[in-house]
Amino acid sequence: MRLINFFPTLLLAVERASSLELGHAHRARSGSIQWSPCLAELNGTVPMQCGNLSVPLDYTRTLSNASFVLDVFRTPATKQPSRGSIFLNFGGPGADGRADLSAFAPQLLAATGSEFDLVSWVPRGTGVNTSLELTCFGSDLERVFALAYTFPITSGNASNAAPGAIWADSTIFSDNCLSTLNRTGGFVGTAFAVRDMMSILDALGEDGMLRYWGISYGTALGSTAISMFPEKVDKVILDGVVNPHEYYHNYEPESLTDADKVFSGFCHGCVNNPTNCVLARNQTGDELEEEIYAYLEDLKFNPIPISYPGGGMVVDYSLLKTTIYNRMYYPFLWPLLAADLNSFITGNLTAIAEFYTTFLSTPATGAPDALPGIKCSDKIARATSREDPLLVEGLQGRYKSRIGGDVADTTIVRCATWRMDAVEQYTGDFHVQTKNPVLLIGNTADPVTPLVSAHNASAGFEGSVVLQQDSFGHTSWIQASLCTARATRAYFINGTLPAPGTICPIDATLFSGLQGWEEVIPVLLSEEN
Ligand SMILES: *[C@@H]1O[C@H](CO)[C@@H](O)[C@H](O)[C@H]1NC(C)=O
Ligand SMILES: *[C@@H]1O[C@H](CO)[C@@H](O)[C@H](O)[C@H]1NC(C)=O
Ligand SMILES: *[C@@H]1O[C@H](CO)[C@@H](O)[C@H](O)[C@H]1NC(C)=O
Ligand SMILES: *[C@@H]1O[C@H](CO)[C@@H](O)[C@H](O)[C@H]1NC(C)=O
Ligand SMILES: *[C@@H]1O[C@H](CO)[C@@H](O)[C@H](O)[C@H]1NC(C)=O
Ligand SMILES: *[C@@H]1O[C@H](CO)[C@@H](O)[C@H](O)[C@H]1NC(C)=O
Ligand SMILES: *[C@@H]1O[C@H](CO)[C@@H](O)[C@H](O)[C@H]1NC(C)=O
Ligand SMILES: *[C@@H]1O[C@H](CO)[C@@H](O)[C@H](O)[C@H]1NC(C)=O
Ligand SMILES: *[C@@H]1O[C@H](CO)[C@@H](O)[C@H](O)[C@H]1NC(C)=O
Ligand SMILES: *[C@@H]1O[C@H](CO)[C@@H](O)[C@H](O)[C@H]1NC(C)=O
Repeated sequence: MRLINFFPTLLLAVERASSLELGHAHRARSGSIQWSPCLAELNGTVPMQCGNLSVPLDYTRTLSNASFVLDVFRTPATKQPSRGSIFLNFGGPGADGRADLSAFAPQLLAATGSEFDLVSWVPRGTGVNTSLELTCFGSDLERVFALAYTFPITSGNASNAAPGAIWADSTIFSDNCLSTLNRTGGFVGTAFAVRDMMSILDALGEDGMLRYWGISYGTALGSTAISMFPEKVDKVILDGVVNPHEYYHNYEPESLTDADKVFSGFCHGCVNNPTNCVLARNQTGDELEEEIYAYLEDLKFNPIPISYPGGGMVVDYSLLKTTIYNRMYYPFLWPLLAADLNSFITGNLTAIAEFYTTFLSTPATGAPDALPGIKCSDKIARATSREDPLLVEGLQGRYKSRIGGDVADTTIVRCATWRMDAVEQYTGDFHVQTKNPVLLIGNTADPVTPLVSAHNASAGFEGSVVLQQDSFGHTSWIQASLCTARATRAYFINGTLPAPGTICPIDATLFSGLQGWEEVIPVLLSEEN
């Protein structure tokens, strides 16, 4: 699961698919999927099946027979026969559907009564070595040369020269994407991803009704799906909700509304749990917060050189701030974040070098430019200059967050300079009467999908309810809540919605390093009949 691809890998060169392979298969609007055990088993604890489905490359050109093959995955319900399939999208766009399904399956099975098959797929554009792979450069070397200033990451507040450089680099990025992807770039995008999902749904040969659980970007996909096909909605959960209007129409000024609450939660949680937080010294949470901001400001002017044979890297304000913000998604990693920050504050260069060389050499999975490729092709807003009012409004809104405001400028500005439109862009208003009401879930403080966005989306979906999970981090999955899991199970099995205003506590202790699922899953399983 990732919403923002901060760390494109430095080491993994991704081969580009040589050319667009226009399939000549007959037009398969629906077919059937042959499931077989996945060849390379992941290390998950549940069995997984793999299959594929040929779908139209371009849903808008009914006379074309060009096709695209989707990889599809399934974890069968523990209790068979199942009640049907629940589709999952793990965000990004570009999260690895197969690895994430494998990783999250135990908790998802438990939170759905073990009565549904779980289905995911590799959304078009996101898979490597496919004809629609979203990669804008021939090699990572080309990427480094093209994006000299902002690779791997530059924050907009790193210096007063940074915003101009980000705009210039983003222009180069978008120009490269246009020339590299100009034959294929239009065929990616969320509307086609929705149609792919509906093609899989048809091919499953069930009741033809959509059961879906999307997190993060998966809520943009889900909001689009239920707006395009309201009559197909059986049960849909949107969890970690993106404001769908902002996703399509502006530069997401609302997205970081709660980010600073999460960072304060980290600092206060630290001083309240001194045995699990090395940063807890004789100071208050507020003082710790100011100390970290002061350190970041100092790092702006005194970046740290890390040399290694044959190269080196500079650990600077942008990199550290990005690391901190990124870790706000995952509260179970906070003890480790505290240890890393302690290495910085105490000047332990060995530890800093170890951290970043490990971090940056972890190969990214999936197509490297899937996130901007899909998000920016979806966006109806485009800017022609840095002064564009929508862009300025977006950045100003985001800059209200001190911890995250300037971190992800690159993605936002890349969308402003992007010049490819998805062949089909969803242009509706997200006001729909769905066949059955949908359930939205938002954490009290989520660094990138604030609670207000869940309420915003809910306002357009008639009869929908927002369940608030009283926790930090990105999406409800990241820390377990028996209360939320019982609610999701009752919804999928019986269609029961929680009472409006329901707030669920969590069953994980801050700074324990645990997500809490290890305790919640057995309870859920014991309640099954
Ligand atoms: C698909 O389209 C190509 C190009 O138009 C054509 O040559 C081919 O015969 C078509 N195949 C089928 C099965 O319709
Ligand atoms: C599975 O686990 C083995 C042993 O721990 C490890 O060597 C291997 O890389 C893992 N495979 C995957 C796909 O994670
Ligand atoms: C799709 O699945 C079928 C049946 O398992 C298999 O024979 C075929 O090679 C797969 N095609 C692709 C493109 O993966
Ligand atoms: C993609 O193709 C390249 C070149 O054939 C191969 O080395 C690589 O392993 C493939 N990657 C995946 C994820 O299939
Ligand atoms: C697409 O990109 C190729 C390679 O840069 C270029 O030759 C071609 O003119 C471009 N086509 C369009 C329509 O931009
Ligand atoms: C902790 O800070 C308080 C207030 O600044 C001070 O009175 C106290 O002596 C300090 N204790 C230690 C162990 O440093
Ligand atoms: C610095 O970090 C290294 C590697 O994590 C660790 O082994 C060492 O004890 C640390 N040094 C100090 C003074 O904390
Ligand atoms: C940007 O920098 C200015 C000046 O140092 C500071 O006042 C502001 O809080 C910073 N904003 C963000 C989002 O970093
Ligand atoms: C939802 O967000 C959009 C975009 O910011 C805004 O125009 C709209 O008024 C909001 N709707 C509600 C009900 O808050
Ligand atoms: C579904 O409803 C039935 C009948 O009211 C009830 O017995 C069962 O416990 C409910 N299941 C869940 C998961 O809420």
